[in-house]
Amino acid sequence: MRLNHTAVHASDRYLSAEFLAVLLGLEVGKPFGPFLPVDLGNGVTLDYCEKRDEPIQPQHYAFLVPEDAFDAVIARLDAVGVTYFADSGHTDPGRVNHMFGGRGAYFDDPDGHNMEIITRPYARP
Ligand SMILES: [Fe+2]
Repeated sequence: MRLNHTAVHASDRYLSAEFLAVLLGLEVGKPFGPFLPVDLGNGVTLDYCEKRDEPIQPQHYAFLVPEDAFDAVIARLDAVGVTYFADSGHTDPGRVNHMFGGRGAYFDDPDGHNMEIITRPYARP
């Protein structure tokens, strides 16, 4: 069994989908009803949808990326002026972590979703 898709709430689905797609080097798909898809290329799609009736609850999304893609994402974050952090609490700006023998960093999307990029999966017990 694999995750196929999930909805990501956004105040502006075009802004948020484009934000993630540009940073990760992906494409925004065509709208599908209320959803605006970002295909991650591994069988999982993030379907951005707008939620205006109540505040958006920030969620956490982590993306496993190759080493060279990690460098590219960090360069794009720098280029567009989005601060990244070494820690999930966002107290260590402009740095990456080295958990599990890889590299990782966190940044907020336009609605405060805590996005994470890692080059090695978490080592779970
Ligand atoms: Fe995480």
